[in-house]
Amino acid sequence: MARHICASILAADQGRLAEEAQRMEKAGADFIHVDVMDGKFVPPVHYGVETVRKLANQVRIGIEAHLMVQRPWESVGEYAKAGAQRIIYHRETGNEKEMEKTASIISKSNSVAGIAINPATPVERLSREMLEGNGIILVMSVNPGWAGQDFIAESPEKVAQVSSLLGNYGLEREIEMDGGINAHTAKQCALAGAHSFVAGSYLFKSKDAKEPIGQLRTLMEK
Ligand code: DX5
Ligand code: ZN
Repeated sequence: MARHICASILAADQGRLAEEAQRMEKAGADFIHVDVMDGKFVPPVHYGVETVRKLANQVRIGIEAHLMVQRPWESVGEYAKAGAQRIIYHRETGNEKEMEKTASIISKSNSVAGIAINPATPVERLSREMLEGNGIILVMSVNPGWAGQDFIAESPEKVAQVSSLLGNYGLEREIEMDGGINAHTAKQCALAGAHSFVAGSYLFKSKDAKEPIGQLRTLMEK
């Protein structure tokens, strides 16, 4: 299973997004993670299609769009066109049909689809079809909306549940974690079956991001 480190620009210096993204590229991140928020699904408002389009031209690594928006099926096509190679939407935003429709629009646009679950959403809300139809299962380890929050301690258990659910169906999918990730919390999640990590504060707040990225890489490969 491929393993990735995604740098969340929500924790970057917002006045220098291009330089900040390039700093992460040089330090060895695999993707730039863009947290799109609509002020409805979550209270804050952040970024949009134009941010993705610009960043996609400013770095050579890929862009991962994490859409914390209502009715994601209405905008995922635009994010794919703007150059997001991976597009993640939330399970809480619609019914099974709408989830299916969203994944299918993303896949038809040749991007990788990802479905995210909030800390309060039980893994049973992920049907076999949803697990099958998405390349990434994103387990939120904080409540979405803000960078710099504390990791929710029950998250590794949630990862283990997703991992065993996938195993029951004989499926292999990339399990990614997002929120409060550092070397310590990532280790617990990796042991529970997580493959990939989104990190904001841990990477951007460090002067030389090579160090935290190296640490994450080491424990991911163990
Ligand atoms: C939270 C976002 C995360 C967040 C991660 O709503 O989805 O991507 O920016 O930031 P840290 O790593 O600081 O928790
Ligand atoms: Zn995110």
